[in-house]
Amino acid sequence: MTNENTTHGSTPSELAARTLGTVAPLTVSCLGLGCMGMSEFYGTGDEKEAVTTIHRAIELGVTFLDTADMYGPFTNEKLVGRAIAGRRDGIVLATKFGNERAEDGTRLGINGRPEYVRAAADASLRRLGVDHIDLYYQHRVDKTVPIEETVGAMAELVTAGKVRYLGLSEASPETIRRAHAVHPITALQTEYSLFTRDVEDEILPTLRELGIGLVPYSPLGRGILTGAIASPDDLDADDSRRSAYFPRFQGEALEVNLALVARVRDLATDKGVTPGQLALAWVLAQGEDIVPIPGTKRVRYLEENVGAAGLRLGAADLAALEAAVPRDAVAGARYGDMSTIDS
Ligand SMILES: NC(=O)c1ccc[n+]([C@@H]2O[C@H](COP(=O)([O-])OP(=O)(O)OC[C@H]3O[C@@H](n4cnc5c(N)ncnc54)[C@H](OP(=O)(O)O)[C@@H]3O)[C@@H](O)[C@H]2O)c1
Repeated sequence: MTNENTTHGSTPSELAARTLGTVAPLTVSCLGLGCMGMSEFYGTGDEKEAVTTIHRAIELGVTFLDTADMYGPFTNEKLVGRAIAGRRDGIVLATKFGNERAEDGTRLGINGRPEYVRAAADASLRRLGVDHIDLYYQHRVDKTVPIEETVGAMAELVTAGKVRYLGLSEASPETIRRAHAVHPITALQTEYSLFTRDVEDEILPTLRELGIGLVPYSPLGRGILTGAIASPDDLDADDSRRSAYFPRFQGEALEVNLALVARVRDLATDKGVTPGQLALAWVLAQGEDIVPIPGTKRVRYLEENVGAAGLRLGAADLAALEAAVPRDAVAGARYGDMSTIDS
């Protein structure tokens, strides 16, 4: 790998800004912070460390915070709300509705009905302790409700001043088009990383044609690209990556995938950065209209991830990374059950 056109990762004193969307543009820090794992899915979090991580993010200029009502469920929004109390100005707060859950965590299905959209938004505002949400996403498309009806209800929230901008998550190109015709969509949030590149085929061209930004979730491949996971034993007993819901972390697939991560680590070592930083820099290099939201519940990881924003990869670096992790080399589907994905 060449070091030409490359600077080493460092913590920028002021994080660069990027703008999501051109029809309804929203300017955010070039990296966001995914808050999901602070409350659920990736092992047991420590509330104090989580809140400190959010405060440190704001201090470092990472002001684009991502949560959802279903994380916890409900506890992640409350945690984020507590963390940003008294610091709301300058924060771009994103949350999501649509994966309906009961208080005890039971999954009730995907709900895109207008009356539910209205109730979910009010409940999120209460839990977050804010008077508006900056970016409100439909978390999963409800295939039983025309997207026009769901987005129509979301647009009413904008008119009411409860929400500033609209987003979708895991929506197909056709759904994106239909939604955008009802009200401008600012961003699509979907999985994108060196390990998950199918978005490049149809979705990214559609977004660019329509003037919609992309917010890649799981830009670290749910942590595997950092090199910090060597076996399932590195994950807490209650970590959902141990379950069949995440095939890439199981058995032989995990072995194949860890061999790919080892190649990323070699390239990172050559550059004097970490594999996670290189993986994030790769996502950042895919376009100014792309704002990844790496997730962490720890200050140390956050600081490392912010360092990726100072990395500039040249064409040779990108080619070396793409040769190290060929698109079809990753083993296992990204979800065990893909039925909730709109395609
Ligand atoms: N729209 C959707 O359907 C959807 C789906 C999934 C996620 N999301 C959003 O996207 C955000 C990010 O995605 P994600 O959290 O799934 O995956 P990710 O960002 O690819 O990876 C998160 C995992 O990587 C670990 N990690 C982060 N930085 C690290 C570092 N520097 N060194 C070692 N390990 C590191 C974290 O560990 P710790 O937890 O121990 O800090 C966590 O286990 C979420 O927080 C959530 O807000 C949205």
